[in-house]
Amino acid sequence: MTQTTDWWRTAVIYQVYPRSFADSNGDGIGDLPGITARLPHLKDLGVDAIWLSPFMTSPQHDAGYDVADYCDVDPLFGTLADFDAMRDAAHGLGLKVIIDLVPNHSSSDHHWFQEALTAGPGSEERARYIFREGKGELGELPPNNWDSVFGGPAWTRITEQDGTPGPWYLHLFDTSQPDFDWTNEWVHEQFRGILRFWLERGVDGFRVDVAHGLVKVDGLPDYTPAPGGSMGGDTSDAPYWAQPGVHEIYRDWHKVLAEFGPDRILTAEAWVNPLSKLTDWVRPDEMQQAFNFGYLETPWAAAPLRKVVDASITEFSKVGAPSTWVLSNHDVIRHTSRLALVPPPLQGSGIGPDTEPKPDDAVGLRRARAATAFMLALPGSAYIYQGEELGLPEAIDLPDSARQDPTFFRTGGELYGRDGCRVPIPWEADSPASGFSPTGSSWLPQPKSWPLYARDAQVGVPGSTLEFYRDALALRHEHDLGAGDIDWLTFDDPDVIGFTSGAVTVIANTGAGTVELPAGRIALCSGEAGDGKLPGDTTVWILTAG
Ligand code: NOJ
Repeated sequence: MTQTTDWWRTAVIYQVYPRSFADSNGDGIGDLPGITARLPHLKDLGVDAIWLSPFMTSPQHDAGYDVADYCDVDPLFGTLADFDAMRDAAHGLGLKVIIDLVPNHSSSDHHWFQEALTAGPGSEERARYIFREGKGELGELPPNNWDSVFGGPAWTRITEQDGTPGPWYLHLFDTSQPDFDWTNEWVHEQFRGILRFWLERGVDGFRVDVAHGLVKVDGLPDYTPAPGGSMGGDTSDAPYWAQPGVHEIYRDWHKVLAEFGPDRILTAEAWVNPLSKLTDWVRPDEMQQAFNFGYLETPWAAAPLRKVVDASITEFSKVGAPSTWVLSNHDVIRHTSRLALVPPPLQGSGIGPDTEPKPDDAVGLRRARAATAFMLALPGSAYIYQGEELGLPEAIDLPDSARQDPTFFRTGGELYGRDGCRVPIPWEADSPASGFSPTGSSWLPQPKSWPLYARDAQVGVPGSTLEFYRDALALRHEHDLGAGDIDWLTFDDPDVIGFTSGAVTVIANTGAGTVELPAGRIALCSGEAGDGKLPGDTTVWILTAG
């Protein structure tokens, strides 16, 4: 076993999506006091840390990823005092607290951007963001051909104070999310201040949004993705993704975090391929972790899983960083539904009432539990997205009128977007909104099936998904699997993959057939394994020694 001291190398980190976690005041939107009240459940689940998606002041055009004040709490979610109470409660339970930092863009409501609009051309205020003159005789065409990740052009033209048409500003995401100009030292200074503000408030780290996007190629050249690619895709040649200049920013931030001791972390949300390039984000003087989206995107099949796990462990260890593992988050179709779809829909596209074929819930849940059992045995740090411990599927039947993801609107409804994985989660089967909100209100409608998945319907029920997650997390800790070294096993059946990690043998059957199991005590099974046989879409952990 590798000796580790840094908590984040092996931690299981639970993503709280605040607006959908627990609503304390009955407005149908989750909030910080709601989180505080439910923290004991997360402790009981067995996670080490929580990561909160943004709860800062925001007009909520992109569910809080459009920040209008980086150093305050949006009244929807509570107050700074509520944050402090939540942090104290988490720390009191031994849970670390990671918050989201959104440095690629602010909200267009941020006073920095509003000042940029009023201050006019050539001003210091305008230099905070990326304004450019348009093309065409009258500047009526966007400065280049970039599209927004959410669809439609990545540029919006402004009107100057005197009513004349002005330049355009860049927004890689929604119109309401203007990109900062990271060639401007002023921007760097503001973000150092924001980091220190939250570090002084006791946060244990930051998940850095769009960590591959802050720096754009000089001159902002046109870009045409390769056939089959997309503007928003993680292509390595896009002039706005993965530019070398971003690394100077993270080296600088690394030093800022170090002012507060050795335990605070930065985690990159960087959709970067290949893995050997992604690991640049976690070199010793940069961030501590990067999300392994290559793993998330790997199909439920033995050969690709083996390949991605091998590549991850090899590449991350070259820079002395742990690999991370993740299957779901607030941007992708929940893996309970995604793994039932072969091939899976494109990232960000979502599924909805008109999607065909629809995922089979039973197949999806079986595969999801098997995939989770495989993931939680791997060495490194793992992320869990709220609700996956309940086996929640993607909410498919959301009416168009309820949808809120800008992707849905910016593609004219062509893509459903990400609302289906963001529906408020169920706690108590017989309570209003399944315990999410005391009034029964819910910002996205909960599917009729939600009470079946409620936490109280699963707690103490052998074989429930919740108890399966609790068992897996307890065993992972007991056997220190996060710090393990894995040795692959070989199987005749190409659908089977397995390894040993210390005393634990992990075998996953990704196919439909039945497989003979080796001798040993089954410590964890994602489904049913009787008579020494492992059915399809099932993973077991077997104790072979001791
Ligand atoms: C990534 C976040 O996870 C996503 O939810 C958001 O829409 C974009 N970044 C833009 O901030």
